[in-house]
This record gives sequence, structure tokens and C-alpha cells, in this order.
Amino acid sequence: MEGMDVRLSGYGAASTAPSHFNRMMADFAHSFRDGIDINLGVGYVNEKTIPVELFRTALEAVSADTTTYRQAFNYGGAAGSPNLTRALRDFIARRQSPLPESYRIVIGPCGATSILDALTDLLPAGIVVTADPNYYIYSDTLERKGFRILAIPEDAEGPCLASLQRKLESLGGEASAISFFYFVTVNNPSCTILSNARRRALLEVAAALSKKQNRRVPVFYDLAYELLLHDPAGVPFRSVLPEDELGIAYEIGTLSKVLAPALRIGYLAGPRGDLMTAMVQKTADTGFSAPLFVQDMAAYLLDHHIEGQLAAVNAGYREKALAVGAAIQEELGPHLEEVRGGSAGFYFYLTFRQTRTEPGSPFFERLSHPADAARAKVIYIPGQYCVHAQGDLAEKGLRQLRLSYGFEETDRIVDAVRLMRAAL
Ligand SMILES: Cc1ncc(COP(=O)(O)O)c(C=O)c1O
Repeated sequence: MEGMDVRLSGYGAASTAPSHFNRMMADFAHSFRDGIDINLGVGYVNEKTIPVELFRTALEAVSADTTTYRQAFNYGGAAGSPNLTRALRDFIARRQSPLPESYRIVIGPCGATSILDALTDLLPAGIVVTADPNYYIYSDTLERKGFRILAIPEDAEGPCLASLQRKLESLGGEASAISFFYFVTVNNPSCTILSNARRRALLEVAAALSKKQNRRVPVFYDLAYELLLHDPAGVPFRSVLPEDELGIAYEIGTLSKVLAPALRIGYLAGPRGDLMTAMVQKTADTGFSAPLFVQDMAAYLLDHHIEGQLAAVNAGYREKALAVGAAIQEELGPHLEEVRGGSAGFYFYLTFRQTRTEPGSPFFERLSHPADAARAKVIYIPGQYCVHAQGDLAEKGLRQLRLSYGFEETDRIVDAVRLMRAAL
């Protein structure tokens, strides 16, 4: 049978080679020494923020109350547990304003990731407008599925409006191929907070485009890190859903960062209509539903414990952000052109004045393969993987890196920052 291969789809063929990023992480994980090496690359949450005891309580509550949590261990409906969609609505109403009645919440089969993935099946393969740097994991998925990325460099408030306008104009007739807009409200990798004014302005750009093209061009706001606004000086986020006259704005949320990634609970909130209906069918096609008892546990936790949990998680990340931010300034300050992050989420995004950060650069190699084998290896996400390869930041990205203060403990991160200084 040699020489005979399974015939793959375009997506299948594009998925046979692991992305550069996945290869780098796999290489590192292969030789990772627990307690010695320091992983600032993973987007894992801090283990201490995961409320294991609350999960035990929630499981007890769900299994004991078979009236509220009906048939929780059976197949669930594809739109999601009614307990969870109601609990999410209540939670959103407590934090901001109630979701309009004409809006719907649906639960994805496996976290926000499954909602993002579903969009690639439900919306036409075309151009996706997003920020630069951007959520590289999703950009990679999109490109393998035949989408093109139009990356808009961000400033301190999010994607730059002037650049967005310029790039839209230069598309000319190709603008009809825009499939959707995708913005992460606390950007991954940079943790730049999308300001409320910019959030609204981006909606207005999409609304103008929709009117011009006589179709609804959807805008997805990914709220993954919004609940992790830990800076007391931070301005509370304001959803644009209540102000969206055309019905083009959607929000994608997740409980991964504030409860546990392993719950795999993500949702889409948006105006009732074809896209929401198709999303429910897509969930059925993928796996019927997210595990029902887990959805009900999440509902229980949102109803009874989420405010305390949010306070505890954010206090923990605040402390880490301050300590790591101070270490970055002290150790790396003179070498840095810019530092982003530190107010929400758990990443800092650094731009060096001169130092190159990509794999193969002396800085990267000294940290990931130190000459002294007893010394800690340190891994981060090179900016090269975070910026769009054909975008305006391709060169600058070679001097950038994302450093996570989520997973590792503070003293180890500070050690890693010192090793970075030594490598410089
Ligand atoms: C911007 C963004 N969206 C979505 C996700 C994935 O969320 P989930 O765990 O719900 O799939 C992540 C995870 O890191 C993320 O950074």
C-alpha cells in the first residue's frame, strides 16, 4: 500500500503539518522538567484559581436536585441547558444590563473554541477582519479553512480606526468578500483592553459596511478575558449589544478563565435569527451538546458562587501582575520599547528596542537551550507567531514576545525575567 494515501480535504491536508507554534510547544513539553523549567508560553490558568471544592459542591447539588437539574446525565438539547442559559442571562444582567429579550444565548459543544470553529462552517470562507497582533490559534484555524486575515494594527485602545478605514478602502471591490469581524476585548496576546469607545466605533464601521453592501456583516466580540479585569483603575466593560440597531453584533464568552478550562463551557449571545439557529444545528452535528451535568454545574456556580470566585481569581492575578510588571521594568526596562498588559487577563506583551525574539535568535535559544544544562529553560511565545505574517507588524513582531503570568507562580516568573535579562 506504499504510495497510496487517504485523499484529504483542503482543510485536512492543511492540518497534517503542525503549526510552527504547536511544534515549538511540543518540543518544549517533550523535555520539560517539572520544578526546574519555566513555561511562560502556555495560556493555562493558574491552578490555584480553580475552585475544586466548589465543583464537588456543584456536582452534589446537581445530582441531588433532579427537579431543577432534569436528566442531567443524559443527552442534552443542542441549544444548551435551560438552567445555564438562564443563569448566564442573570449573570450578565447583574454585571451590566439585561440582554434584550430578542437576544438568545446558545452553549457551544466544547468551549468558546467550538463556537469560533463553528463560525468557519456557518459563514462563507472570505476575509476576516481582526487585530494585529491577533489570537494566533484562531487565525491559524481560519487560514487552514481557507479564510484570509485582514489584520489591523492596534494602538492603546484596540484596532486603530484610521488603519481599519484605510485597509477597507484599499480592498476596493474585494470588500464584498468580508465574511466577518472578530475582536478580542482583552486581546490575546497583548492584553490590550478594547476601550468602550473603540468597541462602539468598530461596530459603527461594520454597520456602515453592512448598509453599503446591503447585507448584515457580523461582528464577534470575544470576551474570553473580560471577567479578568483586575486593575482597580480599569473602566468597566460596556457591551454594544443593546445599541446594535442592525442586529450584527455578537458576544462569545467562556467560563474557562474564571472557573476552569476543563469545564469546556463557552457561549454565543446574539440576536435571534438564522445564524443562531444554524449554530444550534452545528452543535448537534458536532456532539449533540456540551455535557449536560457540566452545564448544570456551571449554572449552579453562576447562581451561587461566581461573585466570590471572581473576586478571589482577580485578587490573585492582580498581585501577580504587579510583581511581574515591576520585575519586567527593573530587569528589562532599558531594553524595552513598549510593554502592554497588566490590567486584565494574564499576559504581558513586550516589544524590545533591538533584541530579536524568534526561534533561532540568540535570545530565544539561550533561554530555551541554556549552555548550562542544570539551569532553568524558559519558554515564551515569540511575537513572530502573534502578528500576521503578511501584515504591517511582521518586522516588529520579531522584537516582541508574549509572557504569561497565569500558569507559573510569581517567584518562578521573576526568576525567568532575570534569566531574560541575562540572555540580553
Ligand atoms: C481569545 C480567546 N478566545 C477563546 C479562547 C478559548 O476559550 P475556551 O477555553 O472556552 O475554548 C481563548 C483561550 O485561551 C482565548 O484566548
